[in-house]
Amino acid sequence: MPPVITEIEDLRRLHKRRTPKMFYDYCDSGSWTEQTYRENSSDFDLLRLRQRVAVDMTDRTTAMPMIGSQTTMPVALAPVGICGMQRADGEIKAAKAAERFGVPFTLSTMSICSIEDVAKFTTAPFWFQLYVMKDWAFVENLIGRAKAAGCSALVITLDLQILGQRHKDLKNGLSTRIKPTPRNILDLMTKWEWGLEMIGTHRRTFRNIVGHAQGVTDVSSLMSWTAEQFDPALDWEKVKRIMDMWGGPVILKGILDPEDARRAADLGADAIVVSNHGGRQLDGALSSIRMLPQIVRAVGDQVEIHLDSGIRSGQDVLKAIAMGAKATWIGRAYIHGLGAMGQQGVTRALEVIHKELDVSMALCGHRNLAEVGRDILYIPRDFEGDFSN
Ligand SMILES: Cc1cc2nc3c(=O)[nH]c(=O)nc-3n(C[C@H](O)[C@H](O)[C@H](O)COP(=O)(O)O)c2cc1C
Repeated sequence: MPPVITEIEDLRRLHKRRTPKMFYDYCDSGSWTEQTYRENSSDFDLLRLRQRVAVDMTDRTTAMPMIGSQTTMPVALAPVGICGMQRADGEIKAAKAAERFGVPFTLSTMSICSIEDVAKFTTAPFWFQLYVMKDWAFVENLIGRAKAAGCSALVITLDLQILGQRHKDLKNGLSTRIKPTPRNILDLMTKWEWGLEMIGTHRRTFRNIVGHAQGVTDVSSLMSWTAEQFDPALDWEKVKRIMDMWGGPVILKGILDPEDARRAADLGADAIVVSNHGGRQLDGALSSIRMLPQIVRAVGDQVEIHLDSGIRSGQDVLKAIAMGAKATWIGRAYIHGLGAMGQQGVTRALEVIHKELDVSMALCGHRNLAEVGRDILYIPRDFEGDFSN
């Protein structure tokens, strides 16, 4: 009997059971004390929905555009590193699920499957996420490859010039090569399905990088290269240069402050993602959903505002849209699906969120997600916080 999946939490439990601990922990962690990681989700719970009755609920739609392209629901799959270690060929599986469901897929620079791998197995154009590296020739080359593969938007991540520490990754010795320690061997003995699938693929390292960056030919040179390569000198001028080099639609990801949102809008970004990287970078930062209203007030009429970090249900998506986001992105919610059941699990995650979103919208008295506004919410008076700086 296949497991009955009714919520993202079911997928999380299965993900934990079926994937090596090192990779599950990589997904289910935030930086340092994990305060921001926890609050990203718990702050959604502070918002309540307003129930309405006796409203015609026929002919509902959750379809909304994201940077001009129509989606089944405004929920993109966020860029996530090493998806291909959660499940063999993970990025290809997630991209296929997104394409069939009618939502955008974003491929991370730090993926296992390459840009070309994903392009080969999909027909819908996907988005490519760029980490700006010191090696400018590599960055130019990546952008050229993304263009050649027909990627329809460039997502530039701005909140990871240096890495926030995640304790579990250090303790587990995170690497794409699992060391044969007694602990790892014991762990793998219960994850045989994962192991069999991994044996069946040749995609087991960072294929956007190996063979493309100078001096990176194998896993050991790769590890030292990546540790040193994130560009700590990234600034708005460089962002502009990259936008010009790309010449197509650009989404700036990792904005959490109204002043930065204004800079991003002034540069002419097509969209920004209000995000704290899922609580994986600055621990102690406020949650994305709490910061959203200020950012909507600052630039809501200038640039399309998306939000991620903490979304685990369709109710969360509904709340983000009601608070003024034009769209949302999910990270862990679909990675749990991927780790639990591969492509089918990603599809299941999208189905779960879609159903929750559709039914909750209807119970709030709406038939069209594009018409939902703040009036469906009860917002605690101090939701934005009485903070000063
Ligand atoms: C395991 C993991 C890996 C991630 N890798 C990347 C990445 O390579 N590039 C990037 O821009 N964001 C990355 N992120 C951040 C996500 O794109 C997204 O902002 C975050 O997951 C949203 O929070 P949520 O997981 O609570 O939905 C990663 C997140 C997770 C959980």
